[in-house]
Amino acid sequence: MGKVTVSLIKADVGSVAGHTTPHPKMIEAVKSVLSDGTKKGIIEDFATARCGDDISLIMTHDKGENNEKVHKLAWDAFMSAAEEAKKMHLYGAGQDLLAEAFSGNVRGLGPGAAEMTFEERKSEPVIALLADKTEPSAFNLPLARIFADPFTTTGLVIDTRMHAGFIFEVVDVKEHKKIKISTPEGLHDLLAFIGDITRYAIKRIFSKDNSIGIAAVVSTEKLSLIAGKYVGKDDPVALIRAQSGLPAAGEVLQPFAFPALVSGWMRGSHWGPFYPSSQDDSNPTFFDGPPRIVALGFHVRDGKIQGLEDASKPGEHILLDYFKDSSWDAVRRQAMEVAIYIRRHGPFMPAILPPEELEYTTLPEVRKKLQDKWEEVD
Ligand code: F6R
Ligand code: MG
Ligand code: MG
Repeated sequence: MGKVTVSLIKADVGSVAGHTTPHPKMIEAVKSVLSDGTKKGIIEDFATARCGDDISLIMTHDKGENNEKVHKLAWDAFMSAAEEAKKMHLYGAGQDLLAEAFSGNVRGLGPGAAEMTFEERKSEPVIALLADKTEPSAFNLPLARIFADPFTTTGLVIDTRMHAGFIFEVVDVKEHKKIKISTPEGLHDLLAFIGDITRYAIKRIFSKDNSIGIAAVVSTEKLSLIAGKYVGKDDPVALIRAQSGLPAAGEVLQPFAFPALVSGWMRGSHWGPFYPSSQDDSNPTFFDGPPRIVALGFHVRDGKIQGLEDASKPGEHILLDYFKDSSWDAVRRQAMEVAIYIRRHGPFMPAILPPEELEYTTLPEVRKKLQDKWEEVD
């Protein structure tokens, strides 16, 4: 078995009555383009998914990361969905397709991409994490807990292939630089950076066991920086390989039992708790949120996707929707308590982000309008 690439590419290209959910016709449009791409041999296999107003394309192929043909296929799929959205006059139709035409690679054009290439193991479980109403650094805390906290991942203590720890690749999104930090020895250095979620985002995590390679990857595109202005949020996605020398599926999911506060809720300008939900329950209906996290499990098998396929839906991959389970109800209740509590602050900090992190602000105009009204303090 050669190397396989999993490409998870996502975009918000329009939704129904607010920033809520794509229309089923948009999903159909995306599937039709991807199934053509499969027939043409551009990709080996695909599944589609969604979290809130974002559509995710999960594709397997042998062409490596940043491949022009694969990215063009994803771009065409989103264009086709955007056309459907435009016909129906849906909200934000085409919003993440920032360029007039595709030019080689979706990075920098608007869609977010998390891609990983690895040698397929005998059984290859993968978990896709899809988030809405937040930004890539929202994954910093859960990823640190999954791959560097033995109180979350007992495997770090008792699995010989994990005992040496993991290597984290961190991106400085403002300087466009990256650094590799090895844990556990570099844990405190790592936390010094990634605790600042305004600037640092975990991009990749690698196993120290050479037979395994990459363990996790996050989309770290910052839409607001790409466009130079607010055009929609960079709601992130991540791929994590699990089991057999990597964190177990349960260790990957456990950090989401804490509804951590993440930034990017409502108008990209508020803090809110991560609310674990199924795909179907991911419509952001409370103050455009709270920020959602969906976790989907599948296998990569001989370069293709293996999920919970259902004979009544031929040709469709059905992924394991982890947070659909009732064991997450208690977390959802806690997340809503936090959401309602923080909303009582209205437009006051700490409910809203500091001025430089707001997606947009009227402050310069208000300052200008009232600049002559200020008087000396007595
Ligand atoms: C978008 C989002 C929403 C919007 C809000 C205002 O993903 O999070 O909270 O920011 O609904 O949208 P506009 O300015 O388009 O009316
Ligand atoms: Mg949106
Ligand atoms: Mg979104």
